[in-house]
Amino acid sequence: MEVRLQKYLASSGIASRRKSEELILQGKVQVNGKVITELGTKIDIEKDEVKYNGKVVKLPEDEHVYILLNKPIGYVSTVTDQFGRDTILDLVKQNGKRVVPVGRLDMYTSGAIILTDDGDFVYKVTHPKHEIDKTYTVTLIGIVTERDLQSLREGVIIDENYKTRPAKVKILKIDKEKNQSRLMITIHEGKNRQVRKMCEAIEKKVLALHRAKIGNIEVKDLEIGKWRYLKQDEINSLLK
Ligand code: URA
Repeated sequence: MEVRLQKYLASSGIASRRKSEELILQGKVQVNGKVITELGTKIDIEKDEVKYNGKVVKLPEDEHVYILLNKPIGYVSTVTDQFGRDTILDLVKQNGKRVVPVGRLDMYTSGAIILTDDGDFVYKVTHPKHEIDKTYTVTLIGIVTERDLQSLREGVIIDENYKTRPAKVKILKIDKEKNQSRLMITIHEGKNRQVRKMCEAIEKKVLALHRAKIGNIEVKDLEIGKWRYLKQDEINSLLK
């Protein structure tokens, strides 16, 4: 669909139609990398890229959504489930936007998970090379030893022959009465059920697993089951 450049700018909320005309005349608007100063110029909204002051201008309905959900346990993080179980999509109903999870959390793990309708973002952020830190809190049966911590930090063997990459591991609490240990573990790989498998490797049973952070984005201010939109700087921090 073709529209006049000044109408496109106005519809995007950059400025009024009149002010948008001024911006064009001042040479502040580019189409496909070229400064356009002619007022009647038409653009194809599907194909052309418009920039104002060096930033891409989009129509509101074109904007993607980026959501941070504090996933409860008992929900699967796939788009559909062959067994009809509740999926996290039931918790983040978006008007007409088809969001998908960025990565996975297993059914019995709670905490931070991002959803978006931006396929490009999903590709970039989940690419193994991207290596975003993910921080978990895990409650284990038994008291961890210094040696257990060292093994988790240096890498343990999971999936028969895969050695996990170095992890950050901190003790949050040792409860001798309950015979439980709470750890904070930060990894940047995303092998299937990795934290559970790492704990199995030190022969400890996981009582609870929660993802507290993805990169620097924490879920602690969100009630379990609730979501919020990511802020622009949070989105940027994941793409860095
Ligand atoms: N590690 C796990 O064991 N489960 C998750 O959901 C994420 C990381």
